[in-house]
Amino acid sequence: MRPEKSFLKWVGSKSRLIPQLLPHLPSGKRFIEPFVGAGNVFINTNYDQYLLCDKNWDLINVYKWLRDDLAILLNETKSLFESQPDFYDVRARFNNFTPLLSSRRAAEFIYLNRHCFNGVCRYNSKGEFNVPVGKHKRIYFPKNEMISFSNKLISVPVELVRADFSAVIGSAKIGDVIYCDPPYISGTKDDIFTGYTPCKFDAETTKRLHDLLVLAVRRGATAVISNSNNSLVREIFNDFEVYEIDARRSVAANGNRHPAKEIIGVLTPEMV
Ligand SMILES: C[S@@+](CC[C@H](N)C(=O)[O-])C[C@H]1O[C@@H](n2cnc3c(N)ncnc32)[C@H](O)[C@@H]1O
Repeated sequence: MRPEKSFLKWVGSKSRLIPQLLPHLPSGKRFIEPFVGAGNVFINTNYDQYLLCDKNWDLINVYKWLRDDLAILLNETKSLFESQPDFYDVRARFNNFTPLLSSRRAAEFIYLNRHCFNGVCRYNSKGEFNVPVGKHKRIYFPKNEMISFSNKLISVPVELVRADFSAVIGSAKIGDVIYCDPPYISGTKDDIFTGYTPCKFDAETTKRLHDLLVLAVRRGATAVISNSNNSLVREIFNDFEVYEIDARRSVAANGNRHPAKEIIGVLTPEMV
């Protein structure tokens, strides 16, 4: 079956890699996603309970409206997509006037996401969304995708948390499955020697993520991570079982082929 796609466009989205990723996700009672992003893994899995987290307030606000009042959010979003206001007017209103956590802000966030450059989500130091408009031949109102995401959110217990990843990994218990899809580190010299990358999610943060995952697995959870395939990532996750991923398949890493761009790492309680 074709994987479902989120209503949001998102940098680093796993929508194309779902068939390669799913075989590495074991069964478990609760699925924890500390970096939920556009939720492509959430909508393509089938666990009894979810704990979804992201540090982005707007993302979690949209999911809360989808779960708690789909009709209001659909109405607000539909009227924006039908009237097609200027992107920069909506962006200015979003940044200066629209109340935080409102359904209006959730609708404007979806509108900005579908009209901006490549679905990038970026804020300046004042917390203002500052991505420019993109070039789109056709703007698509993702009504059916929103409804389907909302149905998934109400079909099972889903806890939505706006926090740093450490808050939710710390709560993982025996039987939980934690899937981490953090911003990737490049593995350049800067990452290795200074721990610095412009996206602020640097090698030190990735090591902190690794260490928290090991503690969670010692408590009986299973950890699965995605990241780029480079020596720094392999060094940080050297106690994980590593699989290389390309667009069509995932294979145990053996180094004899062209290096794949991405890896999946798995750590189970039997391995610690
Ligand atoms: C690669 S995206 C996840 C994409 C998602 N798997 C999908 O397929 O839609 C990474 C996410 O991590 C979030 N993020 C970045 N730093 C974080 C942090 N310290 N704690 C929690 N979330 C964070 C970003 O806001 C972004 O949504």
